[in-house]
Amino acid sequence: KTRPSPERAKYDFMVVSNRLPVDRCSADDAEIDGERWRRSPGGLVTALAPLMAKSDGAWVGWHGAPDEQLEPFSHDDMDLVPVELSAEDVELYYEGFSNATLWPLYHDVIARPEFHRTWWDSYRRVNQRFADAVAQSARENATVWVQDYQLQLVPQMLRRARPDLKIGFFNHIPFPPPEIFAQLPWRQAIIEGLLGSDLVGFQRPSDAANFMRSARRFLGASVKQQQIHVRNSAGNITHIARAQAFPISIAVDQISELAERPDIIERARQIRHDLGNPRTILLGVDRLDYTKGIRHRLKAFEELLQDGSLKVQDATLIQVASPSRERVEQYRILREEIEGTVGHINGSYDTMQNTAVRYLHHSYPVEEMVALYLAADVMLVTALRDGMNLVAKEYVAARTSHTGALVLSEFTGAADQLKQALLVNPHDIDGLKSTIMRAVELPANESRRRMRAMRKQILDHDVDHWSSEFLAALAETVVRDDS
Ligand code: G6P
Repeated sequence: KTRPSPERAKYDFMVVSNRLPVDRCSADDAEIDGERWRRSPGGLVTALAPLMAKSDGAWVGWHGAPDEQLEPFSHDDMDLVPVELSAEDVELYYEGFSNATLWPLYHDVIARPEFHRTWWDSYRRVNQRFADAVAQSARENATVWVQDYQLQLVPQMLRRARPDLKIGFFNHIPFPPPEIFAQLPWRQAIIEGLLGSDLVGFQRPSDAANFMRSARRFLGASVKQQQIHVRNSAGNITHIARAQAFPISIAVDQISELAERPDIIERARQIRHDLGNPRTILLGVDRLDYTKGIRHRLKAFEELLQDGSLKVQDATLIQVASPSRERVEQYRILREEIEGTVGHINGSYDTMQNTAVRYLHHSYPVEEMVALYLAADVMLVTALRDGMNLVAKEYVAARTSHTGALVLSEFTGAADQLKQALLVNPHDIDGLKSTIMRAVELPANESRRRMRAMRKQILDHDVDHWSSEFLAALAETVVRDDS
């Protein structure tokens, strides 16, 4: 058993994720403020940074560039422990097994997952590297929280090295039903990897149920209520792992505050003005990913222009598609398709003054995103499958005036919480069209009633609520008998 190395083992609370929660500053920015790193946007780091500062915490992860070894450093009061990935690791572990095997497999096989033994070998090696980094720097009895599908083997690897640790895992994406998970040649190893945890968290109760069914089916594990009895090769119970849903959320206050800032309200006005003040602005905001249903959304919008339900003078769709995983083949194909479709729609319906689709293949800072949310009358979230979808929650958080309409796919985790959204099945193009029209024409009082209820839900359940619920449940998990 690896003992923590005395000079490095200084942390009581460690978060582990594929990416560190910082981005490298561009050369220009670094020259202005002297900073080499900037905190990444997103709720997870907003929620966890204060907890780490309070409890001798550190974050372990990759800093985003291949073939570069960095020493541990601090940023923004957070200790960061970089894990190196070679160019080959990026290709096999990250682009390959994580994003061309697991990602499509866990999202209803919308794209065909590829199974390659070399990718799997790399996934194992890299997971071991993350586990080693934690094992060396965690204090006796520390709490470790592993994040997401790229690191599913880390809990078991950690438990082997450091049985003293409290280990939690949270899966940010869906967990597939056993009928689909069955395809994975390494299904048993993945389940065993996750079962190294004391607590395995999922977005929805159905994800937790899928996981427990797989543990029963592929490992013969005994599952009672939410508890899975984990046995060693001799058949003795080594510990009990708990599986449970903890729907993630966003930093609601941060978004609401930005939504009330005069310069951001002014920016929203400017965006509307620049588009020629159409009566209705529709908005889609997604990573450019085949799970997001961008094609279905464009199809429905195009048909509404075609049959005259919408006119280009009255309605514009802003589609922000942030660049993602650009070296993975399915993402390249998708980009070609989306950009072809947008060109086709705009070629047919644009006039000199008006555009049908304003397509932006960029990512933007949170201030600009909030301005877009404020400018948008109708938000379109049409994912074919999504663990949660935080864009839907951000839109609701930004609508402090209780106006606007959210069209939300029932295949998102967010649909469980945002019940007053206009829910759709994005595969049903006629249904999607009529729901978009309902959103465009939604009476003000109905919009207010729905938005108020949704805002109440997320105000009561922000990302701090999520992390404290998870960590409290982790602290309460049964202490194992170390047999
Ligand atoms: C999803 C995953 C995250 C991932 C993010 C961005 O939200 O759940 O784990 O970090 O996408 O993808 P990327 O591959 O760029 O990290």
